[in-house]
Amino acid sequence: MVAPLKVGLAGLGTVGGSVARLLQKQESNAPESNVLATRCGRPVQLVAVSAKAESEMHALGIPGLRFVPSPTALAADPEIDAFVELMGGEGDPAKAAITAALSAGKPVVTANKALIARHGVALARLAETSGVALNFEAAVGGAIPVVKTLREGFAGNSFDRVYGILNGTCNYILSRMESEKLSFADCLREAQKLGYAEADPTFDVEGFDTAQKIAILASLAFGVQVDPDAVYVEGISSITPEDLEAAAELGYRIKLLGVAVRTEQGIEQRVHPTMVRLDSPLAQVMGVTNAVTVDPAGFSPITLVGPGAGGAATASAVVADLADIARGLKAKPFGRPTEALIGSRRAPMQRHEGGYYIRLAAVDRPGTFATIAKHLADEHISLESIVQRRRNGEPHGGSSPDSAQTPAPVILVTYATTEDAVRKALSEIKNRGVIAGNPQVIRIEKN
Ligand code: NAP
Ligand code: HSE
Repeated sequence: MVAPLKVGLAGLGTVGGSVARLLQKQESNAPESNVLATRCGRPVQLVAVSAKAESEMHALGIPGLRFVPSPTALAADPEIDAFVELMGGEGDPAKAAITAALSAGKPVVTANKALIARHGVALARLAETSGVALNFEAAVGGAIPVVKTLREGFAGNSFDRVYGILNGTCNYILSRMESEKLSFADCLREAQKLGYAEADPTFDVEGFDTAQKIAILASLAFGVQVDPDAVYVEGISSITPEDLEAAAELGYRIKLLGVAVRTEQGIEQRVHPTMVRLDSPLAQVMGVTNAVTVDPAGFSPITLVGPGAGGAATASAVVADLADIARGLKAKPFGRPTEALIGSRRAPMQRHEGGYYIRLAAVDRPGTFATIAKHLADEHISLESIVQRRRNGEPHGGSSPDSAQTPAPVILVTYATTEDAVRKALSEIKNRGVIAGNPQVIRIEKN
């Protein structure tokens, strides 16, 4: 057998622990059952780890591992052939350790989308200069091989749109809120317990994690420099059970989508809660599952679906990246030389075109509807449907005298219009005092 690929791993949390156990499981198999070694033509052997405390290494129960307190020292350690970074965070120690490994001519595998989204171009340039791989399949879509699909599987295609459900935590929360009628806070706690959420779950629920992932996919699909600041971002924390229920009644389901689409103004990158039609593939994707739809120019879209977070799913992608290194494969990190990547700029969302779901709390007095209709008409917004819902607890057949002053929920679904028109109309409607609070606005994605 050829010499093993000796691996150093920094970070023994949810993903790091699963990677260590997966590598150990293969190594402890009889040679004929070590599928990883058979497929790579050589064993892939974990030899050294770095964690905040040596006790974390002992807790793994893997014999023969060496402990290196400093991740950066481990990254450049002469004994290792490849370095795996699973500590997380867009700065040091992850950045310093990856830089040290690449500078020492060692290939790197990471699941760190925050770091790749922020510093991916610089690190890819360093990997090119050193002539080694920088692999980050696990950074997007968990176990789904979407990076490889875009980078290699569609090497000869151009794309109109790449979009999908890219955050397992958010999809889990929205699914559980809808199916089990649980509160947002309870669902988030569950997702944290299951190891899906980021160390700071704000990154998940406010859309930043999805923004980092769509920025990476946009770079692979459209050849723009990866840049999370070029992404328009809204999270799911304002989505209410009422919106989920109304969406279902209207034939939609609400998903947090990341979308990168070619427009006349350039590549629009955006993350926001989105209405998708109930009969679309993305609407069927529930729980921690992720899905990415790739829309290549010239033929029908392809949707990849699979577990998007959690130790086992993510470890699968990390080990697949290590397998490529063991086999001697070395793709350009973003599928083309870094010098061929073009600059990106933030999407002008005012020019976004599409349908909108708008929920208003309409003040119950004569003329309210006429005022709302006038300002929508002024902006050339036409309506596909209008639903006036009863106030909570209100009986059929009209309002009770007590509830007459309570605003009533009104839901509007528009035909295609622009973001600019919707914002202007809603601002005028609010200024006229015919609605209470702020309107809820959810974009509808064609699919
Ligand atoms: P995690 O459970 O928090 O694990 C990170 C580990 O790194 C922790 O054990 C942490 O120790 C350790 N660490 C932090 N700083 C360190 C340092 N200076 N030296 C050594 N160890 C250090 O996070 P995770 O969920 O495994 O995520 C790891 C990476 O994978 C992140 O980039 C994440 O975005 C990415 N990812 C995660 C998933 C998922 O489903 N969890 C999926 C895809 C990608 P302490 O706990 O003591 O701070
Ligand atoms: N926190 C992330 C998620 C992990 O929930 O999708 C996978 O990248």
